[in-house]
Amino acid sequence: MMLVFGSSGQVATELRERLPDAVFLGREEADLSVHTNIGGIIEEIGPAAIINAAAYTAVDKAEEEEALALKLNAQAPAEMAKAAARLSIPLVHISTDYVFDGSGETAFAPDAGTAPLGAYGRTKLKGEQAIVAAAPVYAILRTSWVFSAHGANFLKTMLRLSETRDHLTIVADQIGGPTPASAIAEACVKIARSLAADPSKAGTYHFSGVPEVSWADFAREIFRQAGRSVAVEDIPTSAYPTPAKRPLNSRLDCRSLAAFELNRPDWKDGVADTLAKLGVTS
Ligand SMILES: NC(=O)c1ccc[n+]([C@@H]2O[C@H](COP(=O)([O-])OP(=O)(O)OC[C@H]3O[C@@H](n4cnc5c(N)ncnc54)[C@H](OP(=O)(O)O)[C@@H]3O)[C@@H](O)[C@H]2O)c1
Repeated sequence: MMLVFGSSGQVATELRERLPDAVFLGREEADLSVHTNIGGIIEEIGPAAIINAAAYTAVDKAEEEEALALKLNAQAPAEMAKAAARLSIPLVHISTDYVFDGSGETAFAPDAGTAPLGAYGRTKLKGEQAIVAAAPVYAILRTSWVFSAHGANFLKTMLRLSETRDHLTIVADQIGGPTPASAIAEACVKIARSLAADPSKAGTYHFSGVPEVSWADFAREIFRQAGRSVAVEDIPTSAYPTPAKRPLNSRLDCRSLAAFELNRPDWKDGVADTLAKLGVTS
């Protein structure tokens, strides 16, 4: 039986559909921002593997709440990793492209130098480092631009804006791979099972959708598939200031995923699936 941290988040919801027998701990069951005995909870449940889909994900708010983000994104995963090591069970942990500075135009390999631009990325990187230090059988799965029919994400924001707007200005100089939460959930399950059978596959991996696009082109495809007439105007990041600085280059080199026989998902198919789940037809 698997233990999943997170219950109603984007990835956690997709995990729920795939793991009917797993135990899911959301913030109602185990508030990771205040909990002092995460290891004890894990040992009491005694799972065969842990998937951590819980995180502090509010990128801009993290700039003013870094201590809280640190608890969720680093201190809690550290406790999960120590418990996983004690129990000799795999830990699959989801991380982010925001651990990189987004320089250059080539894809970041899993062992590329990290240099987060903001508080969210800093706390996620500390989480990764804590997991590696605790040395359980782990997989850190860095992903990017997550979307699904659940929770808050860019696709749903675009659909909402399309109800009232026929023209939007959208950042066109940040490039990345939009990734369906469903594909991440599938990858996490496959990796957890594979690690249990072969702990030598432990390590840090990248998983994001193809083809890589700008936010503006991502929006255009969402509107095209949803049949919404919204004109998208390209703007540079400098014209859309946010509290947290974002990486311009979020391309992730995902080739090492072959170890788990995983392919990169086509995000355009993911948009179609998500729109179908939301009941949006063109
Ligand atoms: N969203 C993105 O674009 C993106 C990009 C790159 C990487 N990631 C990473 O992908 C993973 C999954 O992200 P997501 O988009 O699925 O996140 P999400 O939709 O924002 O969900 C966050 C999850 O964290 C849990 N959580 C939040 N605060 C908590 C607390 N105080 N105690 C316990 N649990 C708490 C929530 O619990 P409940 O279920 O109880 O609400 C929820 O399941 C995260 O590690 C994130 O860093 C996300």
